Amino acid sequence: MNTTEIFDGVRFPGFMHTPESLQAACTFQFQDTDILLVTFPKSGTTWMQQVLSLIFCEGHLWPIHHLPNWARMPWMEQTSFSSLLPQLNTSWPRLLTSHLYAKVLAPALMKSKPKVVYMARNPKDVLVSFYHFHRIAGFLPNPSSFEDFVDEFLEGTGFFGSWFDHVKGWLGLQKDLDLLFVTYEELHKEPRFTIQKLSEFLGHPLGPEEEDVILEHCSFSFMSQSNMVNYSLLSKEIIDHSQGKFLRKGVVGNWREHFTPDLNKKFNAVYEAKMGDSGLCLPWTMD
Ligand code: A3P
Repeated sequence: MNTTEIFDGVRFPGFMHTPESLQAACTFQFQDTDILLVTFPKSGTTWMQQVLSLIFCEGHLWPIHHLPNWARMPWMEQTSFSSLLPQLNTSWPRLLTSHLYAKVLAPALMKSKPKVVYMARNPKDVLVSFYHFHRIAGFLPNPSSFEDFVDEFLEGTGFFGSWFDHVKGWLGLQKDLDLLFVTYEELHKEPRFTIQKLSEFLGHPLGPEEEDVILEHCSFSFMSQSNMVNYSLLSKEIIDHSQGKFLRKGVVGNWREHFTPDLNKKFNAVYEAKMGDSGLCLPWTMD
Protein backbone atom coordinates (compact mmCIF):
# COMPACT_ATOMS: atom_id res chain seq x y z
CA MET A 1 0.00 0.00 0.00
CA ASN A 2 2.86 2.35 0.82
CA THR A 3 4.07 3.01 -2.74
CA THR A 4 5.08 6.16 -4.58
CA GLU A 5 3.93 7.68 -7.85
CA ILE A 6 6.12 10.48 -9.15
CA PHE A 7 4.37 13.09 -11.29
CA ASP A 8 6.09 16.20 -12.60
CA GLY A 9 8.85 15.64 -10.03
CA VAL A 10 6.45 15.39 -7.07
CA ARG A 11 5.79 12.27 -4.98
CA PHE A 12 2.17 11.12 -4.62
CA PRO A 13 0.91 8.05 -2.72
CA GLY A 14 0.67 5.23 -5.26
CA PHE A 15 -2.28 3.82 -3.31
CA MET A 16 -4.76 6.28 -4.90
CA HIS A 17 -2.71 7.86 -7.72
CA THR A 18 -1.60 6.38 -11.04
CA PRO A 19 0.10 8.05 -14.01
CA GLU A 20 -3.28 7.82 -15.79
CA SER A 21 -5.32 9.37 -12.95
CA LEU A 22 -2.82 12.22 -12.54
CA GLN A 23 -2.70 12.88 -16.26
CA ALA A 24 -6.49 12.77 -16.55
CA ALA A 25 -6.76 15.57 -13.97
CA CYS A 26 -4.48 17.77 -16.07
CA THR A 27 -6.56 17.31 -19.19
CA PHE A 28 -9.94 17.51 -17.43
CA GLN A 29 -12.59 19.56 -19.21
CA PHE A 30 -13.85 22.04 -16.67
CA GLN A 31 -17.23 23.70 -17.02
CA ASP A 32 -17.78 27.38 -16.19
CA THR A 33 -20.09 26.30 -13.35
CA ASP A 34 -17.51 24.02 -11.67
CA ILE A 35 -16.10 24.91 -8.27
CA LEU A 36 -12.64 23.63 -7.47
CA LEU A 37 -11.12 23.57 -3.98
CA VAL A 38 -7.31 23.44 -4.03
CA THR A 39 -5.10 22.91 -0.99
CA PHE A 40 -1.75 21.58 0.07
CA PRO A 41 -2.60 18.56 2.30
CA LYS A 42 -3.44 19.33 5.93
CA SER A 43 -4.50 22.91 5.22
CA GLY A 44 -8.14 22.26 6.16
CA THR A 45 -9.31 20.50 2.97
CA THR A 46 -11.94 18.36 4.68
CA TRP A 47 -13.21 21.35 6.65
CA MET A 48 -13.62 23.43 3.51
CA GLN A 49 -15.24 20.49 1.67
CA GLN A 50 -17.81 20.44 4.47
CA VAL A 51 -18.38 24.21 4.27
CA LEU A 52 -18.72 24.24 0.48
CA SER A 53 -21.12 21.33 0.39
CA LEU A 54 -23.17 22.93 3.18
CA ILE A 55 -23.40 26.19 1.21
CA PHE A 56 -25.02 24.30 -1.67
CA CYS A 57 -27.21 22.08 0.52
CA GLU A 58 -29.74 24.88 1.05
CA GLY A 59 -30.87 23.27 4.28
CA HIS A 60 -31.33 19.79 2.77
CA LEU A 61 -28.76 17.97 4.85
CA TRP A 62 -29.08 14.49 3.35
CA PRO A 63 -25.64 14.66 1.64
CA ILE A 64 -23.98 15.83 4.86
CA HIS A 65 -25.38 12.85 6.76
CA HIS A 66 -25.14 10.21 4.03
CA LEU A 67 -22.33 11.01 1.59
CA PRO A 68 -18.66 11.00 2.60
CA ASN A 69 -16.70 14.12 1.71
CA TRP A 70 -14.69 12.30 -0.95
CA ALA A 71 -17.92 11.43 -2.80
CA ARG A 72 -19.38 14.95 -2.47
CA MET A 73 -16.19 16.68 -3.54
CA PRO A 74 -13.89 14.08 -5.12
CA TRP A 75 -10.18 14.58 -5.68
CA MET A 76 -9.63 15.03 -9.41
CA GLU A 77 -6.23 13.31 -9.45
CA GLN A 78 -7.26 10.14 -7.60
CA THR A 79 -8.13 6.84 -9.26
CA SER A 80 -11.66 6.89 -7.80
CA PHE A 81 -12.50 10.17 -9.59
CA SER A 82 -13.71 8.66 -12.85
CA SER A 83 -16.24 6.48 -11.02
CA LEU A 84 -17.39 9.30 -8.69
CA LEU A 85 -17.76 12.05 -11.30
CA PRO A 86 -20.99 10.78 -12.90
CA GLN A 87 -22.61 10.49 -9.48
CA LEU A 88 -22.08 14.10 -8.47
CA ASN A 89 -25.36 15.64 -7.38
CA THR A 90 -26.82 17.21 -10.50
CA SER A 91 -28.69 19.95 -8.64
CA TRP A 92 -25.34 21.31 -7.38
CA PRO A 93 -22.52 22.76 -9.41
CA ARG A 94 -19.77 20.14 -9.67
CA LEU A 95 -17.71 20.50 -6.51
CA LEU A 96 -14.16 19.22 -7.05
CA THR A 97 -11.02 18.97 -4.95
CA SER A 98 -7.32 18.86 -5.82
CA HIS A 99 -3.89 18.91 -4.19
CA LEU A 100 -2.18 19.40 -7.55
CA TYR A 101 0.15 22.27 -8.40
CA ALA A 102 -0.91 25.38 -10.30
CA LYS A 103 1.48 24.76 -13.16
CA VAL A 104 -0.03 21.37 -14.00
CA LEU A 105 -3.73 22.30 -13.55
CA ALA A 106 -3.70 25.88 -14.85
CA PRO A 107 -3.76 25.04 -18.59
CA ALA A 108 -7.00 23.03 -18.16
CA LEU A 109 -8.51 25.66 -15.85
CA MET A 110 -7.81 28.47 -18.26
CA LYS A 111 -9.85 26.85 -21.02
CA SER A 112 -13.04 27.77 -19.13
CA LYS A 113 -14.02 29.88 -16.12
CA PRO A 114 -14.56 27.66 -13.08
CA LYS A 115 -14.34 29.24 -9.65
CA VAL A 116 -11.31 28.23 -7.59
CA VAL A 117 -11.13 28.38 -3.79
CA TYR A 118 -7.51 28.16 -2.64
CA MET A 119 -7.14 27.41 1.07
CA ALA A 120 -3.82 27.79 2.86
CA ARG A 121 -2.65 27.41 6.46
CA ASN A 122 0.40 28.41 8.44
CA PRO A 123 3.01 25.96 7.10
CA LYS A 124 4.22 25.12 10.60
CA ASP A 125 0.75 23.87 11.54
CA VAL A 126 0.51 22.09 8.17
CA LEU A 127 3.80 20.36 8.89
CA VAL A 128 2.77 19.22 12.38
CA SER A 129 -0.61 17.98 11.13
CA PHE A 130 1.09 16.18 8.22
CA TYR A 131 3.65 14.58 10.55
CA HIS A 132 0.87 13.09 12.70
CA PHE A 133 -1.07 12.09 9.59
CA HIS A 134 1.93 10.11 8.31
CA ARG A 135 1.75 8.10 11.51
CA ILE A 136 -1.88 7.02 10.98
CA ALA A 137 -2.07 6.77 7.17
CA GLY A 138 -1.15 3.31 5.84
CA PHE A 139 -0.34 4.78 2.41
CA LEU A 140 2.38 7.08 3.75
CA PRO A 141 5.71 6.09 5.34
CA ASN A 142 6.16 6.45 9.09
CA PRO A 143 8.46 9.46 9.72
CA SER A 144 11.78 8.47 11.26
CA SER A 145 11.82 11.58 13.48
CA PHE A 146 10.19 15.00 13.70
CA GLU A 147 13.54 16.66 12.87
CA ASP A 148 13.90 14.62 9.67
CA PHE A 149 10.32 15.40 8.76
CA VAL A 150 11.01 19.14 9.12
CA ASP A 151 14.04 18.81 6.81
CA GLU A 152 12.02 16.96 4.20
CA PHE A 153 9.23 19.55 4.41
CA LEU A 154 11.67 22.43 3.99
CA GLU A 155 13.39 20.73 1.05
CA GLY A 156 10.02 19.87 -0.54
CA THR A 157 11.11 16.26 -1.05
CA GLY A 158 8.27 14.65 0.92
CA PHE A 159 4.92 13.47 -0.36
CA PHE A 160 2.97 16.16 -2.27
CA GLY A 161 6.18 18.14 -2.69
CA SER A 162 6.88 21.70 -1.63
CA TRP A 163 4.38 23.75 0.38
CA PHE A 164 6.25 26.87 -0.75
CA ASP A 165 5.92 26.09 -4.47
CA HIS A 166 2.30 25.10 -4.03
CA VAL A 167 1.24 28.33 -2.35
CA LYS A 168 3.35 30.60 -4.55
CA GLY A 169 2.15 28.85 -7.70
CA TRP A 170 -1.56 29.16 -6.91
CA LEU A 171 -1.45 32.66 -5.47
CA GLY A 172 0.56 33.73 -8.50
CA LEU A 173 -2.51 32.90 -10.61
CA GLN A 174 -4.90 35.18 -8.73
CA LYS A 175 -5.12 37.57 -11.67
CA ASP A 176 -5.58 34.84 -14.29
CA LEU A 177 -8.26 32.77 -12.57
CA ASP A 178 -11.50 33.46 -10.73
CA LEU A 179 -9.78 32.56 -7.47
CA LEU A 180 -10.63 33.26 -3.84
CA PHE A 181 -7.81 32.92 -1.33
CA VAL A 182 -8.97 31.74 2.11
CA THR A 183 -6.95 30.72 5.13
CA TYR A 184 -7.53 28.12 7.79
CA GLU A 185 -6.78 30.83 10.32
CA GLU A 186 -9.55 33.17 9.15
CA LEU A 187 -12.12 30.37 9.02
CA HIS A 188 -11.08 29.53 12.56
CA LYS A 189 -11.20 33.09 13.86
CA GLU A 190 -14.22 34.45 12.01
CA PRO A 191 -16.21 31.50 10.68
CA ARG A 192 -19.44 33.39 9.95
CA PHE A 193 -17.70 36.20 8.12
CA THR A 194 -15.56 33.74 6.13
CA ILE A 195 -18.60 31.67 5.16
CA GLN A 196 -20.35 34.87 4.00
CA LYS A 197 -17.28 35.77 1.93
CA LEU A 198 -17.27 32.32 0.35
CA SER A 199 -20.97 32.34 -0.40
CA GLU A 200 -20.72 35.76 -2.07
CA PHE A 201 -17.77 34.62 -4.17
CA LEU A 202 -19.72 31.53 -5.21
CA GLY A 203 -22.77 33.62 -6.09
CA HIS A 204 -24.85 31.75 -3.54
CA PRO A 205 -25.91 34.22 -0.83
CA LEU A 206 -27.15 32.80 2.47
CA GLY A 207 -29.68 33.87 5.07
CA PRO A 208 -28.71 34.03 8.77
CA GLU A 209 -30.53 30.74 9.52
CA GLU A 210 -28.64 28.97 6.75
CA GLU A 211 -25.41 30.37 8.14
CA ASP A 212 -26.34 28.98 11.57
CA VAL A 213 -26.90 25.51 10.09
CA ILE A 214 -23.54 25.66 8.30
CA LEU A 215 -21.73 26.83 11.42
CA GLU A 216 -23.15 23.97 13.45
CA HIS A 217 -22.30 21.29 10.87
CA CYS A 218 -18.77 22.49 10.14
CA SER A 219 -17.74 22.79 13.79
CA PHE A 220 -14.82 20.66 14.96
CA SER A 221 -17.07 18.90 17.48
CA PHE A 222 -19.72 18.00 14.89
CA MET A 223 -17.19 16.89 12.29
CA SER A 224 -15.22 14.80 14.79
CA GLN A 225 -18.38 12.76 15.46
CA SER A 226 -19.51 12.48 11.85
CA ASN A 227 -18.31 9.38 10.01
CA MET A 228 -19.01 11.21 6.73
CA VAL A 229 -16.00 13.48 7.36
CA ASN A 230 -13.86 11.89 10.09
CA TYR A 231 -12.57 9.10 7.80
CA SER A 232 -13.72 6.37 10.20
CA LEU A 233 -15.42 4.63 7.25
CA LEU A 234 -11.99 3.72 5.91
CA SER A 235 -10.32 0.48 6.90
CA LYS A 236 -7.61 0.34 9.57
CA GLU A 237 -5.07 -0.39 6.82
CA ILE A 238 -5.81 3.00 5.21
CA ILE A 239 -6.24 5.15 8.34
CA ASP A 240 -5.44 3.60 11.69
CA HIS A 241 -7.52 5.57 14.15
CA SER A 242 -6.09 3.61 17.06
CA GLN A 243 -2.84 5.57 16.44
CA GLY A 244 -4.50 9.01 16.34
CA LYS A 245 -7.49 10.87 14.97
CA PHE A 246 -7.80 12.49 11.52
CA LEU A 247 -9.54 15.46 13.17
CA ARG A 248 -6.69 15.70 15.62
CA LYS A 249 -6.61 19.13 17.33
CA GLY A 250 -8.23 21.61 14.97
CA VAL A 251 -6.42 24.62 16.42
CA VAL A 252 -4.18 27.47 15.29
CA GLY A 253 -0.59 27.42 16.55
CA ASN A 254 -0.20 23.79 17.65
CA TRP A 255 3.28 23.95 16.07
CA ARG A 256 4.51 25.73 19.22
CA GLU A 257 4.21 22.45 21.12
CA HIS A 258 6.44 20.65 18.57
CA PHE A 259 9.16 23.06 17.43
CA THR A 260 12.32 23.55 19.46
CA PRO A 261 13.85 27.06 19.27
CA ASP A 262 16.51 25.68 16.88
CA LEU A 263 14.01 24.05 14.56
CA ASN A 264 11.97 27.24 14.58
CA LYS A 265 14.99 29.30 13.63
CA LYS A 266 15.83 26.91 10.81
CA PHE A 267 12.25 26.96 9.54
CA ASN A 268 12.03 30.76 9.66
CA ALA A 269 15.27 31.15 7.71
CA VAL A 270 13.98 28.89 4.90
CA TYR A 271 10.56 30.56 5.00
CA GLU A 272 12.15 33.98 4.62
CA ALA A 273 14.41 32.79 1.79
CA LYS A 274 11.56 31.16 -0.13
CA MET A 275 8.67 33.51 0.64
CA GLY A 276 10.38 36.81 1.46
CA ASP A 277 10.33 38.17 -2.07
CA SER A 278 7.04 36.53 -3.10
CA GLY A 279 5.13 39.80 -2.62
CA LEU A 280 2.37 37.76 -1.01
CA CYS A 281 0.68 39.11 2.09
CA LEU A 282 0.16 36.00 4.19
CA PRO A 283 -1.80 36.39 7.40
CA TRP A 284 0.09 34.26 9.91
CA THR A 285 2.91 35.17 12.23
CA MET A 286 5.97 32.93 12.17
CA ASP A 287 7.16 33.64 15.74
P1 A3P B 1 -4.83 19.11 12.82
O1 A3P B 1 -4.09 17.85 12.49
O2 A3P B 1 -3.91 20.27 13.13
O3 A3P B 1 -5.85 18.91 13.89
P2 A3P B 1 -6.89 18.25 5.67
O4 A3P B 1 -8.36 18.01 5.62
O5 A3P B 1 -6.40 19.22 4.65
O6 A3P B 1 -6.15 16.96 5.66
O7 A3P B 1 -6.57 18.99 7.05
C1 A3P B 1 -6.71 18.31 8.28
C2 A3P B 1 -6.57 19.33 9.38
O8 A3P B 1 -7.75 20.17 9.41
C3 A3P B 1 -6.47 18.67 10.75
O9 A3P B 1 -5.63 19.55 11.51
C4 A3P B 1 -7.92 18.72 11.20
O10 A3P B 1 -8.10 18.59 12.59
C5 A3P B 1 -8.31 20.11 10.72
N1 A3P B 1 -9.78 20.28 10.68
C6 A3P B 1 -10.68 19.52 10.03
N2 A3P B 1 -11.93 19.96 10.31
C7 A3P B 1 -11.80 21.01 11.14
C8 A3P B 1 -12.74 21.87 11.80
N3 A3P B 1 -14.05 21.73 11.67
N4 A3P B 1 -12.24 22.87 12.59
C9 A3P B 1 -10.91 23.03 12.75
N5 A3P B 1 -9.97 22.23 12.17
C10 A3P B 1 -10.43 21.23 11.37
